[in-house]
Amino acid sequence: MNLELLSSPIQIGNKTAANRIVIQPMECNDGDSGGGPTELTFKRYRKLAEGGAGIIVVESLTLSYESRARKNQLKISEETAKGLERLVKEMREINPKPLILFQINHSGRISGAAFSKVVSLYPTGDPNVHILTDKELEDIGESFARTAVITKQIGADGIDFKHCHGYLCGEMLRPANTRPGPYGGSFENRTRFFRETTEKIKKALGKGDFLTGVRYSFYEGIPGGLGTSGPEEVEEDLFEPLRFARMIEEMGMDYINVSAGIPAITHEIVRPTKSYPEGVYRHFGWAKMVKRLVGIPVIGSGYSYLRDGKNDLKEPNPSKKSFLYWAEKNLKSGHVDLVGIGRQSLADPLFAKKLLSGDLDRIQFCTACGGCSVLLRSQKEVGCTVYNEYYKEVLRQARKES
Ligand SMILES: Cc1cc2nc3c(=O)[nH]c(=O)nc-3n(C[C@H](O)[C@H](O)[C@H](O)COP(=O)(O)O)c2cc1C
Ligand code: SF4
Repeated sequence: MNLELLSSPIQIGNKTAANRIVIQPMECNDGDSGGGPTELTFKRYRKLAEGGAGIIVVESLTLSYESRARKNQLKISEETAKGLERLVKEMREINPKPLILFQINHSGRISGAAFSKVVSLYPTGDPNVHILTDKELEDIGESFARTAVITKQIGADGIDFKHCHGYLCGEMLRPANTRPGPYGGSFENRTRFFRETTEKIKKALGKGDFLTGVRYSFYEGIPGGLGTSGPEEVEEDLFEPLRFARMIEEMGMDYINVSAGIPAITHEIVRPTKSYPEGVYRHFGWAKMVKRLVGIPVIGSGYSYLRDGKNDLKEPNPSKKSFLYWAEKNLKSGHVDLVGIGRQSLADPLFAKKLLSGDLDRIQFCTACGGCSVLLRSQKEVGCTVYNEYYKEVLRQARKES
């Protein structure tokens, strides 16, 4: 079993990740009524810290409680800073090695109408959705900068500036954003918010080794989505997502996390399952295209489905379709610098530790059953409904109520 590359350290900005496994951000909707972490949140992240991955990206934290996607989403603000500081401290006490990044987000049109205000950049067809003014957008940019500073003050290693999965910043990038004025229309305009906000963030943070990176959906899979040739087009055109990768590097970001799809619409693209196993290859290809263009570290997504090779990919040799095979192959070929695990980190928070110590037999592999996604969609606390009794029960309750 070759673990040479997976277990090797890598420099990101001026910091070092101890190995190449990244815990992808996984929102679990278990914050308190003010968006602060609860005992359930602490427990989850302590376990992830113990799990030995090189980087842990703390789930999507909303910078606006007024517009949020999850009822009990974690919030990043002055009010929640103390609880989040405790979260970082407890993680470091368990294991000081992993780099801890916070994903900061504005939910935009994916905000939940039942408990918050849905806002968007361009009309959605729903008259109740508020179209943000340019001034409101500039204020949101200031909030991103403020929350980056809070993240630094509470001791995390960096921020992940969320541009994936159809939330506000993802909506901004796509050709369908034909909004008049400085933030819609041309590629230059659709990326203006990113450039302006990155400048605000960098200025607010000042000099130092605090990391800044971006996760974006390279291909969204909707008409007019990023990766198509025009506002209403379905024709695939990857020129803009590639130009954006270059821009991320030119703006001085430290890494790129390549994702794809919009969970609320094109979930099979975001999370490969047995109904479209080859989705994993698309993720690998997109990350490779980005890696070819940029010098900063690139994190790949979509690895959980591979497991120990027990999956529905059409390769007869199970050893050539496992997580281990593809992770080492993609790292060795230079197609990616780090590999991210999303669902696998819920199924087994100790995955990295077990894998890197050769304890493969004890890994609880994600079955890609979708139970955790059902919980998220039902606005319940989220966790693995296969291996964790607590979340099994939450799922049972959710099914009873529906
Ligand atoms: C329950 C759940 C919560 C998620 N939360 C986030 C999130 O907060 N931020 C994010 O960028 N992606 C989120 N994702 C997407 C994952 O990070 C990941 O990209 C996706 O599951 C595919 O990777 P995998 O095959 O390793 O699971 C979430 C996915 C699931 C299933
Ligand atoms: S609930 Fe299913 S899809 Fe989610 S982490 Fe557990 S095994 Fe994987």
